[in-house]
Amino acid sequence: MFEHIHAAPADPILGLGEAFKSETRSNKINLGIGVYKDAKGNTPIMQAVKEAEGRLFKFETSKNYLAIDGVAEFNARTKALLFGADSEVVSQGRACTVQSLGGTGALRIAAEFIKRQTKARNVWISSPTWPNHNAIFNAVGMTICEYRWYDAERKALDWDNLIADLSRADAGDVVLLHGCCHNPTGIDPTPAQWEALAKMSAQKGWLPLFDFAYQGLANGLEEDALGLRTFAATHQELLVSSSFSKNFGLYNERVGAFTLVAATKEIAATALTQVKAIVRTLYSNPASHGAATVATVLADPELRKSWEDELSEMRNRIKQMRHRFVELLKQYGAEQDFSFIIEQNGMFSFSGLSAEQVDRLKEEFAIYAVRSGRINVAGITEDNIHHLCQSIVKVL
Ligand code: LMR
Repeated sequence: MFEHIHAAPADPILGLGEAFKSETRSNKINLGIGVYKDAKGNTPIMQAVKEAEGRLFKFETSKNYLAIDGVAEFNARTKALLFGADSEVVSQGRACTVQSLGGTGALRIAAEFIKRQTKARNVWISSPTWPNHNAIFNAVGMTICEYRWYDAERKALDWDNLIADLSRADAGDVVLLHGCCHNPTGIDPTPAQWEALAKMSAQKGWLPLFDFAYQGLANGLEEDALGLRTFAATHQELLVSSSFSKNFGLYNERVGAFTLVAATKEIAATALTQVKAIVRTLYSNPASHGAATVATVLADPELRKSWEDELSEMRNRIKQMRHRFVELLKQYGAEQDFSFIIEQNGMFSFSGLSAEQVDRLKEEFAIYAVRSGRINVAGITEDNIHHLCQSIVKVL
């Protein structure tokens, strides 16, 4: 029966990595997948992570199964990071967290939970968005509705159309929001816009789902949680998918979390039993190493400081590269104004390059980016930036 199977198209993001590996030109640059690179072009293991791993190696006494919801300390620390250690949501016991296989795993748990335990059938997703959002909600049979996010002319948030589109979302619809560092545009709402969105959501009775994969990469761990915390202050119920892939550099350890906030502690505890039932059918229980590493770092003041300092360095390097990128594009003769790139948050920049221009970058200059025009600014280094900017100017 397998002879009837059609080949699936290559993944628009991960497929690029595979193509990049077989690229033979020595000046090749991978600006596709969202992975941080340091000034030398390496994706480092953070110092606090290395230290925590050493401790785990030394003191771990058993490889027994974890609980279905994972490492308890990790779950508690995740909640504090999301909502603030002293937040009401946490102190009232209204938030339940389960460890997941990265942010993608958390989104899939969210989708399964919504499908099995709520009446919601529509999920509102920004246009553009991370392509896997569509795939994940399609996989559970939900109807995808889009709200406009990006004004290509102004290279800014398309606020009026966003509000116009979301005003059609009904009570009980799921609205998926990027907590910070919107993927792919890098454009986030202002504090006042978060307030307005939270107010609209509470009034209309949406179920907000935050995809929060980049905490700490826009302006800081606390600052980046502003949107989520604004919603948490005004909603009895919401869902969060969060990830430690980027802010801990733990990409291949698959560490993320699904968090559910309910109106009361009791409702949250009951809902958690259903989340655990979902996990049991998907992968039974998660792997320990990555989550134990994160918990070790977050629980130890010294390691935590080291992690926060290194995360700040990463954030600052990305910001510097944004400035340098804009400066060199101009220097190499770009007539367009690219200064909008400086204002964008996180790893990505929506460059405005067309799919054809991105194809030319790959074919003629060995530069790999997502065909939407998304560029991973965190992959730019002083060594590759000249080739990058000269090549972009040639395809403009
Ligand atoms: C990205 O958008 O590049 C990352 O989130 C990695 C992925 O899984 O697509």
